[in-house]
Amino acid sequence: MKNTVTTLQKMKEDGQKISMLTCYDYTTACLMDEAGINGILVGDSLGMTMMGYEDTLPVTVEDIIHHTACVSRGLKNTFLVADMPFMSYQTSVYDAVKNAGRLIKEGHAQAVKLEGGASVCKQIEAIVKADIPVVAHIGLTPQSINAFGGFKVQGKNIDRAKQILEDAKAVEKAGAFMVTLECVPEKLATLISKELSIPTIGIGAGNGCDGQILVYQDMLNMFSGFKPKFVKHFANIGEEMKRAFKDYDQEVKSLAFPAQEHNFKIDDQVIEALEK
Ligand code: KIV
Ligand code: NA
Repeated sequence: MKNTVTTLQKMKEDGQKISMLTCYDYTTACLMDEAGINGILVGDSLGMTMMGYEDTLPVTVEDIIHHTACVSRGLKNTFLVADMPFMSYQTSVYDAVKNAGRLIKEGHAQAVKLEGGASVCKQIEAIVKADIPVVAHIGLTPQSINAFGGFKVQGKNIDRAKQILEDAKAVEKAGAFMVTLECVPEKLATLISKELSIPTIGIGAGNGCDGQILVYQDMLNMFSGFKPKFVKHFANIGEEMKRAFKDYDQEVKSLAFPAQEHNFKIDDQVIEALEK
């Protein structure tokens, strides 16, 4: 089944959970599409996972377009969302619409995602008016790292909880068709999911959300080191890749690879003629 804004909305209405993952390349996109994942986000997390930056702030519109176009070529049924990077929509409504348009026209995304609540509703309205579906993103918004002074759970106290609930209602009213809730206490995320008619997609927000998203390198355990509380490792792909690289290294050096079965043959006469 081809996933669209309509089918994703219907999944919420039917009480069916929506599965989403981040993805940044063609090969992985094919695998996720074949696995039946409902939606892919080409997140600005690519700055960290694919480009090695410390945070998402340096990511450009061109970076997102490049990776989104690669992913789009691998998808048959999975819905494709592209992230709007830092400073591609905060600066003006004009910039927001123009850059959202580029993610659709050049990246072949079906929707765009941007961070913020009431403060970006003007941008959401304008992008939606241009017939580009918008996913909002509230709670912990990584592009605000310098304003937040670090990453922590959002909405534990009454003031911030109220603000997040109001942001959720505001982005729905502005026309967002979906909203990401990042690092929000489970019960607050569940309450928001009940209050809204559009689907909520949680990351570190509990299973009361209408769907879930994870960064794929996190869920495949491709990094050694830090594991956020909300991440579950569904496989140990990092270890498996490292094992294969080590085996390859050893076999190259021991001449175990390539073996006879990997070689192309030539008539002995040809070699003899060359040796003369
Ligand atoms: O960039 C990203 O990967 C995201 C998800 C974690 C929601 O915004
Ligand atoms: Na993001």
